Amino acid sequence: MRRDVTLLWALRSRCALACTYCYFGTVEEHKVSPPNELGVLSHIARNDLSASALMDFARTLDGSPVGRVVIAGGEPLDWPGALDLIQVIKEAGCEVVIATNGIPLTRPGVAERLLELKVDGVSVSLDSADPDTNDLRRPSRSGKTGHRDVVAGIRALLQARDAEPAPRVGLYTVVMRPAPHEITDVARFGAELGVDYYVPQPISLAPDHKLFDELAHTSDDVPAVARELAQLHAEPQGLAVPDASSLLRFAAAISTQGSGRVRDCFGGARLFFAQPDGSLWDCPSDRRIAATPPERHRTISGGDARVLFADRPACTDCSLFSRDCVNMWPLVLDMPRLLTSEAAS
Ligand SMILES: C[S@@+](CC[C@H](N)C(=O)[O-])C[C@H]1O[C@@H](n2cnc3c(N)ncnc32)[C@H](O)[C@@H]1O
Ligand code: SF4
Repeated sequence: MRRDVTLLWALRSRCALACTYCYFGTVEEHKVSPPNELGVLSHIARNDLSASALMDFARTLDGSPVGRVVIAGGEPLDWPGALDLIQVIKEAGCEVVIATNGIPLTRPGVAERLLELKVDGVSVSLDSADPDTNDLRRPSRSGKTGHRDVVAGIRALLQARDAEPAPRVGLYTVVMRPAPHEITDVARFGAELGVDYYVPQPISLAPDHKLFDELAHTSDDVPAVARELAQLHAEPQGLAVPDASSLLRFAAAISTQGSGRVRDCFGGARLFFAQPDGSLWDCPSDRRIAATPPERHRTISGGDARVLFADRPACTDCSLFSRDCVNMWPLVLDMPRLLTSEAAS
C-alpha cells in the first residue's frame, strides 16, 4: 500500500503565545463571542478531544495510507501528552514533522526526547531576525518569553542533535505586507543559527480581520515580494528552501483576494486536515471547509485511519482556493527535499 497521505494535525488549541494574526484568533475576542461555526479554530479549548481519543486514533495509523503527520496546533509541545503521542505515530511508521513556536524546546529534556523519538523535522516559527519586530507580532501572554527563548530553543535542539541526521530543523516565517525583506533577512539569520531549511509563508487574513489593511498583501506588493523570493532562491544561504514553483505560487496567491482555481489539488486526495475537536477536512482552506456538505463531515474521534483514508479520489481541480492553500503546498510538495540533509548542498 502506498503511504502517500500527509495529515496536518492541529493537535491542541491552547497556546502560551498570542500571535496577532493567528488562525486561532484571540482569546480576548473569543471570550466575548465564542465562535460556533464549524471549522473555526479558537485557543479556548472547549472541544479538544481527550488524550485517550487522540491515542486511539494514532494507534490506527499503523497500516494506513498516512505516511507523514505534521503536528501543529495551537502549541503542540505545551501539551504534556504530545511526546507519548508522537512515539505512537513514529511507531506506526509515519514521518513526523512538528510545527512549534520553539519555546517548549528550552524545557529540560524536550530536545533530547525528540531525538530519541527520531522525529524527522521540527519547524520553528520566527517572523523576524529582530527581537522587537518578532515579539510585536508574536507576543507571549505572560510577557515573559519571546524571540530570545525561541532562539534558545533552536540552539538547544541543534546542540542535542549534534552530528545526528535528524531531526532536520527549519524556520517558518509569516511574511507580512510591510516587511518583504524579512524573507531574506530571516534566511540569513537561520543560516547563522545553523538550521537546515526555511519556509516563508504569506499571511492569510480574512478581509474583516482588524489587521487586514495593515498586514495583508495586495497586488501592489507582488513585485517587492517576488524580488525577495527570487533572491532567496538564487542565494538560499545554504538552506533547503521550497522549490521555484512554490515560490511562484506564493507570489501568484498574494496577487488576488478572490477565489481561484487550482489544477490537480491534492486536498482530500493526499492531504487532510484534522482539528483539535477531531473534525477531519480535505484541507484547511476556509472556503473548502465551508463548502463541505454535512453528509461529508467526518471526525477522527472513534475513527480508524485505515478506513478514513482508504477510498480517496485522485487529485482534482479545485475552485475553492484561499490563501491558506499556499501554506499547505510545502507540506506535501517540498517536505521531502526540506527533510533531506543533502538538499542544501
Ligand atoms: C498555527 S501555528 C501552530 C504551531 C505553532 N504554535 C507555531 O506557531 O508554529 C502553525 C503555523 O501557522 C502560522 N500562522 C498562524 N496564523 C497564520 C496566518 N493568519 N497566516 C499565515 N500563517 C499563519 C504560524 O506562524 C505557524 O508557522
Ligand atoms: S505560537 Fe502558533 S498557535 Fe500560538 S498564537 Fe502563535 S501562531 Fe498561533
